[in-house]
Amino acid sequence: MSTEKKKYTIKRNDLSADKSLKAWSAADEYLLQEFVALAAKPAHLAIYNDRFGFLACHLHSYQPTIVLTQKSQEKAIKANLQKNYLAFLNFSNPLASFEKELDFALVKVPKSLALFQLFLAQIANNSTQEVTVIASFMTRHFSPKLLQIAASYFEVVEQTKALKKARVMVLRKKKAVVKQELINALAYNNKKYQQYSGVFSADHIDYATQYFLKQLQIKETDQCILDLGSGNGVIANEIFKQNPAAEIHLLDDAYLAVASAQLNIQGENIHHHFNDDLSPFKEEFFDLIVTNPPFHFEYEINIQIPIQLFKACFRCLKKGGNLQLVSNKHLNYKTHLDKIFPSVQILADNDKYIIYQCVK
Ligand SMILES: C[S@@+](CC[C@H](N)C(=O)[O-])C[C@H]1O[C@@H](n2cnc3c(N)ncnc32)[C@H](O)[C@@H]1O
Repeated sequence: MSTEKKKYTIKRNDLSADKSLKAWSAADEYLLQEFVALAAKPAHLAIYNDRFGFLACHLHSYQPTIVLTQKSQEKAIKANLQKNYLAFLNFSNPLASFEKELDFALVKVPKSLALFQLFLAQIANNSTQEVTVIASFMTRHFSPKLLQIAASYFEVVEQTKALKKARVMVLRKKKAVVKQELINALAYNNKKYQQYSGVFSADHIDYATQYFLKQLQIKETDQCILDLGSGNGVIANEIFKQNPAAEIHLLDDAYLAVASAQLNIQGENIHHHFNDDLSPFKEEFFDLIVTNPPFHFEYEINIQIPIQLFKACFRCLKKGGNLQLVSNKHLNYKTHLDKIFPSVQILADNDKYIIYQCVK
């Protein structure tokens, strides 16, 4: 089961146009190295937060369960498995129970420590008493909270020496922890929103979104609407209040965002989509698309991805339909939007945020 001599081709396969971005880091390499050094023979290994499939490819012979948090992650991992002539693996999600208990888990620590906690809770609830967890991170991303979370689930938490600015933690001796649902509650405009740990903006509705919602006016002719990057569903819900008869679609790349939105807004005319692009929709489908678009991807800022999404919005809008988006002013999307849409107007702005309306 040695993985050391094998070389795999791992690409990001994401919407980003910047092909120089790396598909793995020293933290992934260190995680792999430590796991191989232990010469463990797990009966059931699970891998968490393997963003593009570096670990899935290198550890394929262990037949791991890959716990997916994003649709884009699933697409990238599948593409890399195929590219390396490897069969698909068992894919799961962070809220599922596993049929067979885990005895080993590898976690690339996510930026959201609330999500790290959700991962450890799933491992603790679905593993043998002897389970070992190896977690890795770049040393510059270390926070004492990381150790605190690990120590709330495991008695033994050991750290290794730093290697290429990465570090590994080994967790053993699972504690008896009471099962808890990791959901936060937020209030906005007389409604309580629920969201799973790790979903965007954990303790308040995002301020850019609040600014956007204050000016949002849905017209009667807006009959088919998309909330793109819908998070917990707050924008869609405010749209629903203004036009309950409209067909409203919510789409997000994050599994836990979609699962949260499903708790917050339901109905016959409400449609949830777990996806990272607009491929589920045909051309000229929507009257209106609204978005507070993503530009932070873990520790990376990448406006290539929202730009690709804006191009897809143009394709999916009806003629005369419009895209309304809010963003941080400094991102300066106007130059990009002007290349995609014939008309781009500023609907509102303040020192921090700007709202654009782009008409097809
Ligand atoms: C800035 S947050 C906005 C969330 C929510 N609409 C709000 O206002 O609170 C952006 C959202 O886009 C999602 N996202 C990231 N990449 C995406 C993609 N390629 N397609 C769809 N959604 C994406 C993230 O998971 C996140 O929920």
